[in-house]
Amino acid sequence: MPTPIIIDTDPGQDDAVALLLALASPAELEVVAITTVAGNVPLELTTRNSLMMVELAGRTDVPVYAGCDQPMVRPLVTAEFVHGKSGIDGSNLPNPTTQPADGHAVDYLLQAIRQRPGMTLCTLGPLTNVGTALQREPGIAEDIEKIVLMGGGFFEGGNTTPAAEFNIYEDPQAADLVFRSGIPLVMMPLDVTHQALTSDARIQAFRDLGNAAGAATAGMLEFYERYDMERYGTLGGPLHDPTVIAYLLEPEMFGGRHCSVEIETTSELTMGMTVVDWWDLTEADPNCLVVNQIDDQGFYTLLTDRIGRLP
Ligand code: BDR
Ligand code: CA
Repeated sequence: MPTPIIIDTDPGQDDAVALLLALASPAELEVVAITTVAGNVPLELTTRNSLMMVELAGRTDVPVYAGCDQPMVRPLVTAEFVHGKSGIDGSNLPNPTTQPADGHAVDYLLQAIRQRPGMTLCTLGPLTNVGTALQREPGIAEDIEKIVLMGGGFFEGGNTTPAAEFNIYEDPQAADLVFRSGIPLVMMPLDVTHQALTSDARIQAFRDLGNAAGAATAGMLEFYERYDMERYGTLGGPLHDPTVIAYLLEPEMFGGRHCSVEIETTSELTMGMTVVDWWDLTEADPNCLVVNQIDDQGFYTLLTDRIGRLP
């Protein structure tokens, strides 16, 4: 039986590739719905971009629900300087012809989680939708199998401030609710995603697939990689969000440690920092599997194989 998942996302080229990977893997993953949140670009665009991926994958059977258009407390900070004006610059795709599903993503999440206990949430953006759902009905925590999330960084530091990674920095109050919820968590921080770098050969492999999804992936990654290559002086850009989906497909490609993780929500200097007790200094109960190892070539091989199965 495929694992039922809901993907909460703010596409973003790397989110878009994560959506394609999940939608290309129906034998393992049942994508029950996609919920969108403001993050890399405003909500209207993250919703539009999700619809475009569903159409590109030929999977318009998967509903897309639009969610929160700003973080729970702090102002929205977008990242067009990384992702371009549309969020998925480089994809060269037409506007979607389909519409989002009726209703707000938070209402949908509450109802869907209650109705079908045991689903896994995959969060690829700020945690606003899930945090808001938990604030409204804390009891849903018991009905969620686990959350696999892209966010945070510890030895690697931050990518938005010296201390904080974008998804957690964007909505630390929501992240705090998630990390305190008691839901089993798996975290893909910058420590692992900065090992999953694009390269000319890896991008060419997507283009060589000869299908529309491969061409869009290659175009998006060519646009997207330039910011991080310049910032970090690396030969490629980190493909953050697809690690979440790859973990569900092939967990043996990853390694990590169960730790206690807390979120900084008060200090402006370190706002949104993921404080990982890697060395068990607090002896607090672990609330999260913190992933820090990846078979990066295996990851790109999986991605290329699955995107090759799409139209
Ligand atoms: C995260 O922030 C966004 O730029 C990416 O989509 C990813 O989810 C990386 O910090
Ligand atoms: Ca994202």
